[in-house]
Amino acid sequence: MDKIRIVGGNPLNGVIPISGAKNAALPLMISSLLCDDTLTLENVPRLRDVALLTQILSNHGLDYSVDGKRAGQDTMTGQTIHLNASNIVDTTAPYELVSKMRASFWVIGPLLARMHNARVSLPGGCAIGTRPVDFFIDGLKALGAEIDMDRGYVKAEAKGGLKGGRVVFPKVSVGATHTVMMAATLAKGESVIENAAREPEVTDLANCLIGMGAKIEGAGTDTIHIQGVDRLGAHRHPVIPDRIETGTYAMAVAMTGGEVTLEGARGDLLESALDILRQTGTEITETNMGLKIRRNGAGINPVDISTEPFPGFPTDLQAQFMALMTRSKGVSKITENIFENRFMHVQELARLGAKITMDGQVASIEGVETLRGAQVMATDLRASVSLVIAGLAAEGETTVSRVYHLDRGFERLEDKLSRCGAVIERISA
Ligand code: EPZ
Repeated sequence: MDKIRIVGGNPLNGVIPISGAKNAALPLMISSLLCDDTLTLENVPRLRDVALLTQILSNHGLDYSVDGKRAGQDTMTGQTIHLNASNIVDTTAPYELVSKMRASFWVIGPLLARMHNARVSLPGGCAIGTRPVDFFIDGLKALGAEIDMDRGYVKAEAKGGLKGGRVVFPKVSVGATHTVMMAATLAKGESVIENAAREPEVTDLANCLIGMGAKIEGAGTDTIHIQGVDRLGAHRHPVIPDRIETGTYAMAVAMTGGEVTLEGARGDLLESALDILRQTGTEITETNMGLKIRRNGAGINPVDISTEPFPGFPTDLQAQFMALMTRSKGVSKITENIFENRFMHVQELARLGAKITMDGQVASIEGVETLRGAQVMATDLRASVSLVIAGLAAEGETTVSRVYHLDRGFERLEDKLSRCGAVIERISA
């Protein structure tokens, strides 16, 4: 298995292009199942999760193609993919595929809406928590679906099609909002989703669905109204820039010092995280190119954070922020409110010399003068990248194993960082 080797201590200086958002691209790709015409997505990142989802959607009968390189395009530009699900041949999403990626469970919404039935494997637990699917089931039932659980599969049926309904989520869920919103676009009559997720990826999906002909109002607020239509049609849509990749590199610069422009980044997608970074002593400026991140000289101020649904501080940046706080000039507290088991990076950061104590969902981090390179590994994507950030600021050599986690969500990580002066390379096993 590949490893990443880092020799820490260099500041980062230069330009890092920000890729299309993984967590926007995945539901956008799934939405292609709603229509019998071609959905073209631009700025799709080259990631393992994207490749895996293409494979999963192909199993339902989706045809896809990827545009080749165009004149003047460099290898850092996202890809354009064409997805056509005119011929859905299978409404079952099997365990072997769904268990590899939780988001593939979301196909249940479009399949049910368009084909009036779906049989989708339960995704099971994962490294960051139990992650049940009760909100999806209750939401689809509110749209008239009959749902049975059968040997690890959710069997959903809507004879004669889904009907508009009122869905009130007990807690904010990104995936359940995506799924019910997609399903409601083809239901008869009006649906309302209350306590909807307000994440930019939900708004991006809604904008794409509107381009395909859906009638949706209120995406980006906690109440979404959807008026069902008979069919959706062809559309071309660019994926929004990745706010988690943006925040990750901003934290890397805050940690190592230096000055980096995050090309194509949009500050409005992560204001709460940028506010917190400013409080740590990092300068952030919006420019025509994106966001300029700079920290020179002074130490890192400790800042307390709590993860919250958007527009709060994202759970997907919690591990990276913890890495930054390990070098702060005092004590900071991090409270994880979204997932119950998202602290696997704590013991690995400790291997680098971090001082962290846990009390339930709250981590207290006492900043240290120096981190020292070590061998580390992590069991999820964001935890893995937090170790890379810490390694960039640590003295000596760090190796991060289980790199396949990073490949799920960070496009050309080592390339982007080494162009800014980091000593980082992939060691192929
Ligand atoms: C999405 O996951 C993201 N994944 C996650 O990013 C992100 O951490 C998460 O939203 C929160 O922002 C994608 O977009 C592909 P949720 P999702 O449903 O939709 C509970 C990454 O690293 N819940 O918003 O699966 C759930 O257990 C990933 O890129 C129920 O109880 O998350 C959690 O506590 C990891 N019942 C909370 O809601 C349900 O039926 C929020 O989860 C559904 C969710």
